[in-house]
Amino acid sequence: MRDLLTTDGLGHDEATAILDTADELKRTLLGREVRKLPTLRGRTVITMFYENSTRTRVSFEIAGKWMSADVINVSAGGSSVGKGESLRDTALTLSAAGADCVIVRHPASGAPHRLSGWLAETRTSVVNAGDGMHEHPTQALLDAATLRERLGSIEGRRIAIVGDVLHSRVARSNVHLLATLGAEVVLVAPPTLLPHGVEQWPVTTAYDLDSQLPGIDAVMMLRVQAERMRGGFFPSAREYSIAYGLNEKRLAMLPDHAVVLHPGPMLRGMEIASPVADSPRAAITEQVSNGVHVRMAVLYHLLAGEEL
Ligand code: CP
Repeated sequence: MRDLLTTDGLGHDEATAILDTADELKRTLLGREVRKLPTLRGRTVITMFYENSTRTRVSFEIAGKWMSADVINVSAGGSSVGKGESLRDTALTLSAAGADCVIVRHPASGAPHRLSGWLAETRTSVVNAGDGMHEHPTQALLDAATLRERLGSIEGRRIAIVGDVLHSRVARSNVHLLATLGAEVVLVAPPTLLPHGVEQWPVTTAYDLDSQLPGIDAVMMLRVQAERMRGGFFPSAREYSIAYGLNEKRLAMLPDHAVVLHPGPMLRGMEIASPVADSPRAAITEQVSNGVHVRMAVLYHLLAGEEL
């Protein structure tokens, strides 16, 4: 694997190898006072975030540091992008400076794919840390790691992805990966927040959340992305919360073993009620800590010379 740009086309064996490596890294580091492995000593990882992030940026930085890579963070505001430098020139500059891997988040769908093309003749790998409304592959991998941990397996499980599917790169990456891993996915959303062409996706769709809850193994709540809704938000926030918010009453309708996920950042009281987010049924903090191990695994497979 040279780059990680999408989960569309990531094979079952490739995805499983990343998840198995993440498990192994987690086991290796568990209970250690000093969480540092020498695996990527001498390698340089650069994060380049053109959109805000807490979880993805921090966990990639921790992942690189725990594997002894040199990690450098570049933000659009603090770089020559602010002087008008293009994405291509920025990428070629970082590669020429010695980057073994560039991790990029960008508001434009497809930006990491362009970067990958520009850097194809170099030694620099590209990881997509979220591009517009397109994909967020490491989020889907950490979600899969969390589901495996909580449920024991993914194959044959029924997973509901609920809410603003239209604007969600998390949903797109999860749909591809969960289908590859053999899960049954149902997208639950108001018609206005389902994308055109969803009937071509390997999913079923539903508008009514309550009818789905008793039969599912995991519910993945999505953030409502108001910043991507230029024409306003329909239904209203109140209507949305009433119809699609995961509250305590809905939590009680889930099977006992079912797990609640949310990629964060959460809008408490909107898509998820605080008592649900903080309940033992929710695996939201586990998703964050699994994110570090999954991102370590991705860097390992990209940079440590282990072919998948
Ligand atoms: N889930 C996720 O991508 O969170 P951040 O935007 O904080 O990185």
